[in-house]
Amino acid sequence: MTASDTPPVCDYEGSDYRTRFWEGQGRSYEDQVERIALRRLMPPTGTTLLEVGAGFGRLADEYLGYERVVLFDYSRSLLQEAQARLGDDPRFIYVAGNWYQMPFVAGLFATLVQIRTIHHAADVPSLLQQLARIARPQGHYILEFANKQNLKAMLRYLLRRQTWSPFSPEPVEFAPLNFDFHPRWLRQQLAQAGFHPGPMLTVSHYRIPLLKKVVPTSILVKMDSLAQKSGRLWQLSPSVFIHSQHPVGGAAASPDTFFACPECQTPLGAVEAEQLSCLGCGRKYTVQNGLYDFKEPADH
Ligand SMILES: C[S@@+](CC[C@H](N)C(=O)[O-])C[C@H]1O[C@@H](n2cnc3c(N)ncnc32)[C@H](O)[C@@H]1O
Repeated sequence: MTASDTPPVCDYEGSDYRTRFWEGQGRSYEDQVERIALRRLMPPTGTTLLEVGAGFGRLADEYLGYERVVLFDYSRSLLQEAQARLGDDPRFIYVAGNWYQMPFVAGLFATLVQIRTIHHAADVPSLLQQLARIARPQGHYILEFANKQNLKAMLRYLLRRQTWSPFSPEPVEFAPLNFDFHPRWLRQQLAQAGFHPGPMLTVSHYRIPLLKKVVPTSILVKMDSLAQKSGRLWQLSPSVFIHSQHPVGGAAASPDTFFACPECQTPLGAVEAEQLSCLGCGRKYTVQNGLYDFKEPADH
């Protein structure tokens, strides 16, 4: 896929996502239960980890068992917030780019994590194809998605307060560039991209404003933690985590390669004069203040 034919992107450049959605916004319950699910599915240590759509690095402290952690996002400003939060820990690499054109060599990542972002993907097959390309053989992919088949949507549909069916497999775009997915449909997409979809955990069962007001967060978190494993049998919660594995076979990236041109996929060499140059197509990409910028070529 070239830059000219990528699907539309939900652009968070300059967004106040951190302060508007998380900090002081009563979402400690959601944050804690997502971390529990992530710890249950993600290998705690490893070589290379990529977070796809890492935003301001909310979950970055979960990755400290990895040697190299790439925080990847389309928004430069959110990545700069992540840099400010995490200081100069050399494990973290900040990369701006579009997930339809991943700037990495094939077979690079031992673990991929994607939380609260696939709901912005208008073209899930293209995104998953990219992830399957850059995952190592037997690599892990932990994906969280917004579940269309949740209890609230079912009740609303049965009471005729919502037109779309939570039971049908196709994604529903409930607001521009915001999609809910059916677990069965997403498993099919993962398999088509070459992953082996594995166990699912259901998360955020008690994301109900009144409950969150009257029940202490620590109790709701414990109850959610207990309920998460029911996701192996049925999925009725608003949020679902799924663990997939990349198959055996294929080649792991050679240790002296890392970035690749997002346009032509030629492996890129060392940074020179704050730029990475592609010997395949001649494009150059800026590297400034610790941020690798692949959103567009430097001479764009
Ligand atoms: C709702 S935020 C979630 C951030 C983070 N995962 C978290 O849970 O705190 C969605 C993120 O997806 C990123 N995103 C959306 N479309 C993208 C794309 N095409 N390529 C890379 N990142 C994208 C946005 O910039 C934003 O930071």
